[in-house]
Amino acid sequence: MDPVTISDIEEIAFEKLDKNAFDYYSSGADDEITLKENCNAFNKIFLKYRVLVDVSKRDMSAAVLGHKISVPFLIAPTAFHKMSHPDGETAVAKAAGKAGTVMILSTLANSSVEEVTEAASGPVWFQLYVFKDREITRDLIKRAEAAGVRAIVLTVDAPLLGQRVRDVKNKFDLPSGLTVKNLEKNFKEDLIINKNDSGLASYVKENLDASLNWNDLSWIRSVTNLPLILKGSACSEDAILAAEHKVEGIVVSNHGGRQLDTCRATIDVLPEVAEAVKGKTEIYLDGGIRRGTDILKSIALGADAVLIGRPVIWGLAYNGENGVTDVLNILRKELDLAMALCGCTDLKNITKDIIVRNLH
Ligand code: FNR
Ligand code: LAC
Repeated sequence: MDPVTISDIEEIAFEKLDKNAFDYYSSGADDEITLKENCNAFNKIFLKYRVLVDVSKRDMSAAVLGHKISVPFLIAPTAFHKMSHPDGETAVAKAAGKAGTVMILSTLANSSVEEVTEAASGPVWFQLYVFKDREITRDLIKRAEAAGVRAIVLTVDAPLLGQRVRDVKNKFDLPSGLTVKNLEKNFKEDLIINKNDSGLASYVKENLDASLNWNDLSWIRSVTNLPLILKGSACSEDAILAAEHKVEGIVVSNHGGRQLDTCRATIDVLPEVAEAVKGKTEIYLDGGIRRGTDILKSIALGADAVLIGRPVIWGLAYNGENGVTDVLNILRKELDLAMALCGCTDLKNITKDIIVRNLH
């Protein structure tokens, strides 16, 4: 039988992928408390629905950075798509374009930014990791800009890589034949240095700049005029600083529970962030979105749109570009149904009036 839910597709991906890859994609940091809590927190929020509203016509289109998208969800940046399927990131870009939304491409992709923008039929944004060597970083930004990306998404929650225990035990490494395509020019040897650790953790420690701080935003602004989004903010204090620095958007994110374990679920952080900066900068959320109702709740609590991480990788493993399309269709259909059943005809009607907390 064809998969009906995101979790059906995850099960198929689990069967198809080897342990090194599945563990890398699915794991969170330490005890994986936040990984689970990102999902569980949605299930503790209940919905109040209204009846006898004409919901025969529904519109879930949204605007991100002034660009209209058909669905209020984007593809989160995730690394190493070719471990999941040989078509990798270009297949994801095609599926995103067909769904009428944006793909955010990871710095650590197995396909180059040029290959991805060439294959894409919709907008591509570029996720940036800042290297100790600023020339590498400048080169990445300039290449992305020349390739036609529409925004830079600066990841700010990974000065070092969280301890993903399964990756440490597997000594996670890229399978031979795969490289980090955007960085091939700067490094001769294999990018993932396999030490007695997760290869990626040691790579990040050696190459990424843990000194990155608020003052560096002006350096990025001096390199590019592209809109700048900060990804990984998880409290109102940082959201306020982000707005003061006039970034175009923030992603309320804890990196899918892969960085600081026991930090709060993103949906629990969203209300304080929305209260602090709604209207001053665009607000996106990621982490644990697996159902249309999760998207509905995120919008009700103040997100302009959400990002989808692991489910896209599961779709890619399941059936390449078509598998990603299936994942995006499942989420679109579930959101559409949830809107109808809640009495919401468009995103503006999705307000916190539909949210009920503390039932017990
Ligand atoms: C990520 N994430 C991530 N974030 C980022 O800024 N750059 C990256 O290269 C990656 N790579 C990456 C790989 C894998 C396998 C995962 C699961 C995640 C984090 C990602 O963008 C997003 O924040 C989370 O995946 C959202 O949570 P869900 O949707 O996976 O629950
Ligand atoms: C990860 C990095 C690549 O979460 O962001 O694995």
